[in-house]
Amino acid sequence: MSIFLLPLHVSDVEALKQQAGIAACDFVREGMKIGLGTGSTVRYTVLELGRRMQEEGLSIVGVPTSEATRELAESLGIPLVPLVEAGVLDIVIDGADEFDPDYNLIKGGGGALTREKIVVQSSRGMLVVADDRKQVDVLGAFDLPIEVLPFEWQRTADRVAEICPGAVVRRGGDEPIITDNGGYILDCSFGPTIANPRELEKFLLDIAGVVQVGLFVGICDAVVMAASGGVVTLVNQGGRLI
Ligand code: A5P
Repeated sequence: MSIFLLPLHVSDVEALKQQAGIAACDFVREGMKIGLGTGSTVRYTVLELGRRMQEEGLSIVGVPTSEATRELAESLGIPLVPLVEAGVLDIVIDGADEFDPDYNLIKGGGGALTREKIVVQSSRGMLVVADDRKQVDVLGAFDLPIEVLPFEWQRTADRVAEICPGAVVRRGGDEPIITDNGGYILDCSFGPTIANPRELEKFLLDIAGVVQVGLFVGICDAVVMAASGGVVTLVNQGGRLI
């Protein structure tokens, strides 16, 4: 018997993103300090938090991980504070480009990886929102984003290319795209081969000119994942949310 898997339509994927983004709000409690991630999935979380504040009187404060998220949250009336004022956050809710069975992540498809990592490292927990296309056995089919300084960035790219021949600078037209931090993004085609993300992260961070690597290792506590059959929360048994 042959089984044909029909590709999901864009509208189906968007619906899954919305379901995951909204379901994650079940983890939010009154008075929480929340890291607000970046991307098209967590956007639905931010929209839902705004709705709950308006319609249900929910009171929270947020720390945004990008200028795009700051603008969205401000437009919804979500109060924002700098991390230095917020102190330790109760939770970060963010998207991911891939997650593996050990809850290690590739992030940075939206270019916000450095701010995302700064915020998640100041949080008691991390919840990822994703559709099931992001679940993989081994990280790396999605090109690994690395933020680098513009200063002599080609030299940095050469050094990155010593271990990843497929590293290219992310461009918008002819010019490199500039991140919220004034950096550039290298996208690195490892293919699904990143079996030891911690070692790779350390190796890449050792290269001068690398600002941050889009590998989030040992820091994700749960994934709220939407699939055609419904939404499930996958909980990291070694994580902080159990
Ligand atoms: C932003 O820099 C990223 O880390 C995003 O969180 C990640 O790319 C997932 O984004 P989507 O939810 O848009 O796929």
